[in-house]
Amino acid sequence: TGSISGGCPMGHGEARSLHGRTNRDWWPDALQLDILTEDGKRADPYDADFDYAQAFNTVNYDALKADLTALMTDSQPWWPADYGHYGPFFIRMAWHAAGTYRTGDGRGGSSSGQQRFAPLNSWPDNGNLDKARRLLWPIKQKYGKAVSWADLFILTGNVAIESMGGPVFGFGGGRKDVFEPETVYWGTEELWVDQGVETRINPDEGKALENPLAAIQMGLIYVNPEGPGGNPDPLQSARDMRETFGRMAMNDEETVALTAGGHAFGKAHGAKPADTFGGAPESEVLALQGFGWLNDQDEIDAGNITTSGIEGAWTPNPTQWGGDYFRLLFKYDYELVESPAGAKQWQPVNPDEEDMAPDARDPSKKVPTMMTTADMALKMDPDYRKISERFRDDQAALDDAFARAWFKLCHRDMGPKVRYMGPEVPAEDLIWQDPVPAGSTPSDSDVSSFKSAVLDSGLTVSELVKAAWASASTYRNSDHRGGANGARVRLAPQKDWEANDPAELDKVLSKLDELRGGLSMADAIVLAGAAAIEKAARDGGHSVSVDVSTGRGDAGDEHTDAESFEPLEPFADGFRNYLKTKASVKTEDMLVDRAHLLGLSIPEMVALIGGMRVLGANTGNSSHGVFTDRKGTLSNDFFVNLLSMDTKWEMVDESGDEEFVGRNRSSGEETYRATRTDLVIGSNSQLRAVAEVFAEAGGEERFVHTFVSAWKKVMDADRFDLSHAKYHG
Ligand code: HEM
Repeated sequence: TGSISGGCPMGHGEARSLHGRTNRDWWPDALQLDILTEDGKRADPYDADFDYAQAFNTVNYDALKADLTALMTDSQPWWPADYGHYGPFFIRMAWHAAGTYRTGDGRGGSSSGQQRFAPLNSWPDNGNLDKARRLLWPIKQKYGKAVSWADLFILTGNVAIESMGGPVFGFGGGRKDVFEPETVYWGTEELWVDQGVETRINPDEGKALENPLAAIQMGLIYVNPEGPGGNPDPLQSARDMRETFGRMAMNDEETVALTAGGHAFGKAHGAKPADTFGGAPESEVLALQGFGWLNDQDEIDAGNITTSGIEGAWTPNPTQWGGDYFRLLFKYDYELVESPAGAKQWQPVNPDEEDMAPDARDPSKKVPTMMTTADMALKMDPDYRKISERFRDDQAALDDAFARAWFKLCHRDMGPKVRYMGPEVPAEDLIWQDPVPAGSTPSDSDVSSFKSAVLDSGLTVSELVKAAWASASTYRNSDHRGGANGARVRLAPQKDWEANDPAELDKVLSKLDELRGGLSMADAIVLAGAAAIEKAARDGGHSVSVDVSTGRGDAGDEHTDAESFEPLEPFADGFRNYLKTKASVKTEDMLVDRAHLLGLSIPEMVALIGGMRVLGANTGNSSHGVFTDRKGTLSNDFFVNLLSMDTKWEMVDESGDEEFVGRNRSSGEETYRATRTDLVIGSNSQLRAVAEVFAEAGGEERFVHTFVSAWKKVMDADRFDLSHAKYHG
C-alpha cells in the first residue's frame, strides 16, 4: 500500500536526541507536573485496571449517536456553526486526531486522545479545534467513562459524515485515553510551520523526509495547503502528498478519495491576517481556560474567522455529501488568488451563479468557491487525475472508496479487529487489520510432549530463544501491530530480515514444524522458547515455569500485506545486540525506543538484556555482551561481570564508538567484547542501579523472576484475543 519508503526509522542525518524538540523546549514556562508522576505515580484518575473496551460496551450507543446528531445543528453563540452545521468542523477534528499516525513507528493516530494535549493542541494545523473539543464536552460529560475522548473524536466524525448524507463503513470503539502528553518524536526544528521553517522535502537539495516523520513541516498534519513552503505548485504538492499519505499507509486512490471526500464538506477560514489573533492554547493566559487563537466576539459573530488563512468553501453545498467537488474541479479553470488573510489559493474563473457557495453566516449571500494548492494536485498530477476523473464519473465508486479510506484512517492504529467494540463493527475482514485465523487450545499433554520433543531435537537454547524473540518482538504498543500471533515470522518479509538470521531461523522453524503435531506454528514457536528458558533456568539451579497462553493461529500470505510489514523491521534491536547501520540516534536511544514500543519497564528491559546475552540470543551469534562461560544457562553473570572492577573498557579503535573491548585490569588481557547497548547498562546511573539489584546477593532470584515475567509480557503482547474476546457476544 502506498509509497512506504523503507530506510532506517531513525534516519542517517545529523546526530539528534531521541525525542527531538519537546513540549519543554516549546513552552519552557509551562507548569511542569513531572515531579508528581515520579516513583510510578499515575496521572490517570481512573483505576489502573479500568477497562475502556468493557466500558464502551455499556454505552447506550443509539442515544449517544442521537445526541451527537443533535449537537451538529445546535449552534452555540460563542462559536456559531458555519451554515448552521458543525459537521465539517468535526470531520476536520477527527481527521486531524487520526492523521498524526505514521507507519514508521506506529505512533500518533486516533487511539489515545492526544489532541487534548500539547504539542498537538497547539499545532498551527489544529487551529481552532480547541472549540470543536469544547463543543463536545457536554456529551463527554453526560456519557462519562463509557466513552473515551479518543472514541468520541472519531465517532463524532462518523456521525458528522452521516448527518450530511455521506457514506460510512463502520465504527469500532474501545480506545483508551491517556492523561499526559505522549512523548513522540515530532522533529528537531526549533520553529513551526507558521514561523518560516523550511520544508522537510527538497529534492533539489537532496532533502528527503526523515523517518518516522510524516509531515513536511513542524506543526502540520501532512502538507502545507498552500504548497511546499507556500509555493503554490500543485505538482510539488502532489509529490509531498504522496510521500506523507504513504507514511500513513494510504495509496493514491485512498489519498484522492479522502481529500476530495473531506473537502466535499465545510470551508476554510482566512478572513483576516493571522497576526490579529491570539496565541495557541498552550501559550495562552489562565483566564482563557485552555482556549487559544481568540478574537473578539463580534468578529466571530460576523464570521471573521481565521484558521488556516485560506478562505472559502470547496463546493456550493458545504453541508451535503455529493459529487460537486470533482464536478467543479474539472468544470472550471482555476486562477491563483490571495485570501483576505494573504494565503495563496485557487478560484474558479467566471463561475456560474449556481456554482457559488453560500456565505457561512448569511445563506442569502453568494461567495466564490476555492481550491487549495493541495486540491489542485488532484487535478494536475497525472496519476491523481486519472483517479479523480474516475470518481467524477462514478459517484458510487467515490462513496465506497471514501467510506473505506475513512474507516482505515480512523482505525489503522487500533490493532487486531478483536479490539473493536460496539454495534457498528464491520463484519468484513480488511487486509490492513492483519487478520489471523482463529487458533485452538491444545491439551496440556500435547504441550508437554511437544516441549520435551523440542529439548531432545538437537536445537539449542540459543536457537529456540532467538526464534521466539524474532516472532514476538515485532509488536508495537503504538499501533498494536506485529507480535507472535499469526506466526508471520514464517512469511515475507520477516523471514528474510537480517536481524532474524534467516538461515538459522529457517532451520529452527522447519524442525518445529516437524514436531508440532496439532499445534499452530505460532504456539509452537512460543512454547519452544519457553521450554528453552525453563531448561536454561534449571541448569542455573532455578526451577521456574514459563507460562504460555496458547491458542494462537497461523496467518498465511493471503492474510498478509507483506509491504505493510516493512516498517516493522528492526534497524536496531538492543535485545539481540543488533544494529543494521549506525543511525542519527544513539544506539542506546534506539534500545529505549524499542523497549517502549514493547511496553517494557526499566527493570524489564534490563533483565531481558542480561538474560538474552547469557542465553546467546545475539543476532549473528556474536559474543558481544556474552559475559559468561556457561552460555545457555540463565544466570546473572552478565550483571556480575559487567559491574566487576576487574574489567577495564575502551573503544576497540578510534574509528567507531559502537564496539568496546574489556581487559583484565591487572594483566591487560582481553576478556570480553561489548556494544554500546551492553555498556550503557553499566554506564547509565539508573540502569546501573537496576543491574546492581540483579547482581547482588540474592539478586539472581529476582533477576530470573523479572526476566521470565518480561519474556511472557513480550510473547503475549498481541494477545487481544484473550483479553478482548469476552466482550464479543
Ligand atoms: C478544512 C487542507 C485533507 C477534511 C481544511 C482546511 C485546509 C485543509 C487548509 C481549512 C481549515 C480552516 O481554515 O478552517 C487539507 C489538506 C489536505 C486535507 C492540505 C491533504 C492534502 C483532508 C482530509 C479530510 C479533510 C483527508 C477528511 C477526510 C476537511 C474538512 C474541512 C477541512 C471537513 C472543513 C472544516 C470546516 O469546515 O471547519 N483542510 N485538508 N481534509 N478539511 Fe482538509
